Amino acid sequence: MCGIAGYIGERNAPGILFDMLKKLEYRGYDSAGVACFSGGKVIVSRGKGKVDEVRKKSRITEIKSTVGIAHTRWATHGEPSDENSHPHSDCTGQFTVCHNGIVENYKEIRVELSNRGHKFLSQTDTEVIPHLIEELYSGDFETAFVSMLKKLKGSFALVAVDSNSPDRILVARKESPLIIGVGKGENFIASDTPAVLADTKKVIILEDMEYGIVKKDGVLIKRLDTGIPVDKEVHDIKWDVKAAEKDGYDHYMLKEIFEEPAAVKNALRGLENITATAKKLSKYERIYIVACGTASYAGQVGRYVFERYGISAEVVIASEFRYSTINTVDKKCAVIAVSQSGETADTLASVKEAKNRGAYIISVVNAVGSSLTRMTDDNIYTYSGPEIAVASTKAYVGQATTLTLLALSVAKEKGKITEAYQNEILDDLYAMPDKINSILNSREKIKKLAAEQKDCKSFFYLGRRLNYPTALEGALKLKEISYIHAEAYPGGELKHGPLALLEKGVTVIAVCPNDDLKEKMESNMQEARARKATLLRVAEDGEFTVPVCDPVLSPILYVVPLHLFAYYLSTSKGIDPDKPRNLAKSVTVE
Ligand code: G6P
Repeated sequence: MCGIAGYIGERNAPGILFDMLKKLEYRGYDSAGVACFSGGKVIVSRGKGKVDEVRKKSRITEIKSTVGIAHTRWATHGEPSDENSHPHSDCTGQFTVCHNGIVENYKEIRVELSNRGHKFLSQTDTEVIPHLIEELYSGDFETAFVSMLKKLKGSFALVAVDSNSPDRILVARKESPLIIGVGKGENFIASDTPAVLADTKKVIILEDMEYGIVKKDGVLIKRLDTGIPVDKEVHDIKWDVKAAEKDGYDHYMLKEIFEEPAAVKNALRGLENITATAKKLSKYERIYIVACGTASYAGQVGRYVFERYGISAEVVIASEFRYSTINTVDKKCAVIAVSQSGETADTLASVKEAKNRGAYIISVVNAVGSSLTRMTDDNIYTYSGPEIAVASTKAYVGQATTLTLLALSVAKEKGKITEAYQNEILDDLYAMPDKINSILNSREKIKKLAAEQKDCKSFFYLGRRLNYPTALEGALKLKEISYIHAEAYPGGELKHGPLALLEKGVTVIAVCPNDDLKEKMESNMQEARARKATLLRVAEDGEFTVPVCDPVLSPILYVVPLHLFAYYLSTSKGIDPDKPRNLAKSVTVE
């Protein structure tokens, strides 16, 4: 996720663009840049750092310009650095582009263009875009832009300028958001509405496979496939800036839960890299998965998938690993460090120690360019986008998906599963975003359940095998943001202690996938019912209803209602779920 912006009008573009970027910083903040027309040329100023830092260093605010484009980055391809910052230009400096999304076929395009003499200065996927326009240009900017778009695979929201056409900015969208703020004698382009609200409330929303020509006194949107103009509605936005930053959601946490379908989709983008990494991983004798908090529960999901296919993997909390398990680590071990931020102190320390002992280190990480990614042998990115709420939700879904893919690939590599079986699971995974959406659409029902439970003092979450981590994650989320006692147990452990606490007034949440352990979960639930505890089931026919999926993928799906439940319980108690007391998003001290 990155933020892109554009301005064309009468006023001074650089200042306006930096102001717009500030409002988009929640979409990414590792580097920023602006490109503006001046004296028949396009001047680019960009660098590593947050928007304010880059603005302070930049002299572009001193030039007089009324047209420009800008970008605030959240790295996906290539670490945060001055060279990888947007905007990017072609060899001649005629075409300059800002991009949000992923060009999936950038490697092929880059090789092809390099062979034709193009020089690349960054490691980004984006840089192929201006070079492609340069390659395809024969006098008309729009024609070259459209031909370029037709060659891209993946997702994009784009703004592009041509130093020979200072009266226009070209825009395009596929899967990444882009809007146009319509002003009087001026127009604005942005990834999201908050960036334009200070100047206009009138907004055109670009749909997938549309592109447009934005001039200061007009906007023309066309279909990419046919070139036929589209009659676009101009929406009147009623949100204030704060609400708009959250896309209209009350909290970042809710917005991020609604990004869980995209988290699965984005994790799948890493499949090629996962397959390559699995080849190396399968050679190691022992696998340790090391992480903290929610990331460790995603690690547990990974462990159970590995075990399902007869491969042993141990999950160790990083703060324990570094002081105990580390004594068992040698060069026959592989360590998979799972982290959203890539900055968690205990995870980093564990990796450092394991590396010193010769282990092969892989990360499953969201933040490209984070400290963790610089300590590993191989990185697998989840591409979940920035997560702002302290309680992790979409990152968990991204991590669980990625680890499932990794375990499947290692199993395939070791001959434990067939390609046909792997493809069957992959097909189900590609269908997962729609299934998650159907749960999100039942949010009112979950909200009602949460309101009914708001005075309950104690929750027990039960799950077995692959969904024991789902229970752990559900309980953690609830305690983090509602301050209610909640703990998780493997269903079979109920009799070994917690049963003593079950009585009227206690709620048991049971995660019950439709698998071979269903009857065993049923008898665990019977034990709870007999003690008059309230019982809520996450099941195909449960109080939390979930769609049918292959049991191996159930952790990815069954956690979604539990995230929503925790969110609504927190808000029903009047707590701000985005900022739970005493907790930090990233724990960078021991
Ligand atoms: C903190 C956060 C959690 C997160 C954990 C690990 O406790 O509040 O949401 O799961 O750190 O963070 P990481 O960035 O390494 O995934």
